[in-house]
Amino acid sequence: MIDWRESLATVPVGNTPLVRLRRIVPAGAGEVWLKLESGNPTGSYKDRMALAVVGGALERGDVAPGDRLVEYTGGSTGTAIAYAAARAGLRFTAISSDAFAAVKLRSMDAYGAEVLIEPSEGGKITPGLIARMRDRATALAAEPNSWYTDQFGNADIRPGYAPMGAEIAAVLGERLTVLCAGVGTGGALMGTIDGLEDADCKPDLVVLEPTESPLLTTGTGGPHRVEGVGVGFAPPFLDRARISDVRTVGQDEAVAMCRRLAAEEGMLCGTSTGLNVVAAVRLAVEQGSDSVIATFGVDNGAKYLEGGLFG
Ligand SMILES: Cc1ncc(COP(=O)(O)O)c(C=O)c1O
Repeated sequence: MIDWRESLATVPVGNTPLVRLRRIVPAGAGEVWLKLESGNPTGSYKDRMALAVVGGALERGDVAPGDRLVEYTGGSTGTAIAYAAARAGLRFTAISSDAFAAVKLRSMDAYGAEVLIEPSEGGKITPGLIARMRDRATALAAEPNSWYTDQFGNADIRPGYAPMGAEIAAVLGERLTVLCAGVGTGGALMGTIDGLEDADCKPDLVVLEPTESPLLTTGTGGPHRVEGVGVGFAPPFLDRARISDVRTVGQDEAVAMCRRLAAEEGMLCGTSTGLNVVAAVRLAVEQGSDSVIATFGVDNGAKYLEGGLFG
């Protein structure tokens, strides 16, 4: 039997670079720093939560090697769980759909996951589709030797991101004035702020959402193309009392920023990163040369090459 502790302890997750953006930030603006998470094994910060969830479940004995994890997912989270499951000697069944990028489904499959496809209506992500995926996942998770990872409620997720805050604090310390980022579950943003606060860093927290799905700003979501954020319901991990501000960024601005990041800074990133950087640069301009803004480079843009993000 594989030693899951040793196997999970030897993964190259975290300790990613924090890079200062220079070319796309106008003169006279503050500093903008990007936590470049594309270097994690499956190419996104989701590897941090997957390790925390899988490690926590094994540690408590919720699952044992050979058992099966179950989740409903559109991609990045599922790929990260598939990876952590493979490392730990667990099986993984992902409930997904033809509405999500084919490359993400193939990645889960490549890591040995069973990928069950819930058919969409014409490739659209709709509340009905999500509800069917969730129902199928909870039914499967009730079977013997199966366990629901629960990406929208698992208590291991937020602490799983705390090291990201510690890593940012180690570079910027108390100079950091603002942390801003788009949210899906809110796990990455809240976990990071916990890690920063543990290191006595207390930046303002600015939450971002697509202009086309302004749930936090107006109470109503909507369809948009920024994968992973603005999911149309309240982000379960978001602590609204800790937030300084909520800002919206248009999906076309996010796409344009991805293209600039690739061509001008040499960073190939996904759309949610484009959204993060648009807002970070805006804040750095507004707050002036003394400001220090950090945000997340969530994932690697390579998986969006087929989807037209880069033209
Ligand atoms: C590409 C991408 N960006 C951003 C997010 C948002 O992260 P979180 O759920 O931690 O708020 C996700 C989450 O699925 C994602 O897949």
